[in-house]
Amino acid sequence: MTILQLEKRILWVSVAFVLVLFALAALAVNLFHVGLPTCLTDIKPFQKGELITHSPTHYEIHYVAKMWKFEPENVTVPAGSTVDIYVSTPDVTHGLALLGTNVNLMVVPGVVNYSRVKLDSPRNYQLLCHEFCGTGHDRMATNLRVVDRASFNATPTAPAEPQSQTAGARLLESKECLSCHSVDGSEGIGPTLKGLYGRVEKMTDGKTITVDDGYLRESIVNPSAKIPAGYDDLMTKAELTDDEVARIIEYLKTLK
Ligand code: CUA
Repeated sequence: MTILQLEKRILWVSVAFVLVLFALAALAVNLFHVGLPTCLTDIKPFQKGELITHSPTHYEIHYVAKMWKFEPENVTVPAGSTVDIYVSTPDVTHGLALLGTNVNLMVVPGVVNYSRVKLDSPRNYQLLCHEFCGTGHDRMATNLRVVDRASFNATPTAPAEPQSQTAGARLLESKECLSCHSVDGSEGIGPTLKGLYGRVEKMTDGKTITVDDGYLRESIVNPSAKIPAGYDDLMTKAELTDDEVARIIEYLKTLK
C-alpha cells in the first residue's frame, strides 16, 4: 500500500490536533480545576440539604433543589476550600450553576449529580437554577459565600445581638431577602444591605435619593417603585405586616 505525501500530511495534522485537544483538556483540569459533572447512580437521592465539614479545607454540600429554592441557603465556607457539591430534587428537573465557576449541573429527579470545585479567594458566588422549572424559576437563587479564614473562624463567637435586631434579621432570612441582598457588603442580585441606611443612591431614572425610613418602607412594600441604578426590577413583594416592615427597617439601620 502506498500512502500519498498529501495523505501523510493530513494524517500528521489530524494526530497533532487530537494530541493538542487532550493536552488542553489536561491543562483545564489541572490549571482551572474543571471537574467533570458526574451523575451518581449508587447514591440515593437525599431529602435534607446540609453542609458537612470533612476538614477545615474540605467541605461537602448537599443541595436539595425544589420548587422554588435551594436548601441549604446562603452557605459560607472559608477561602482555599475544596467543596464537593451534591444535588438532588424531590420534584421536577432543575439546574444548578455556580456562577463564576465551572460548576454546571442538571438536577434530575431520582439521581444525584456531583461536581467538585476549589474556591480559593473570598467572594460571593451566586448559585442559580438554569432550567425552567415553573412559575418560581426566576426566584431560585441563593449564595455560596467564600470568606477569608480568619472571619470564618470568628463567626461562631460573634457577640449576641439585641433582641429587636434579631427579629429583623430573622425576617430577612425567613422571607428569603438574603437570597439577593447581602448584609456583609458583597455583591448580589440586589444591592447589599450593609451601610444602606443613610446612603445616597442613584436611581435608574437618574435621580438620587438618601435612604431613609420612607424609602426603605416603599422599597419593601412596593419594590418596583424606585430601582437603584445598575439593578433590575426583579424583587418580588414579600408578605409582611406593618410591624414586620418596621422591625426590618430597625435592623437595617444597624447594618453599618
Ligand atoms: Cu428550578 Cu428553575
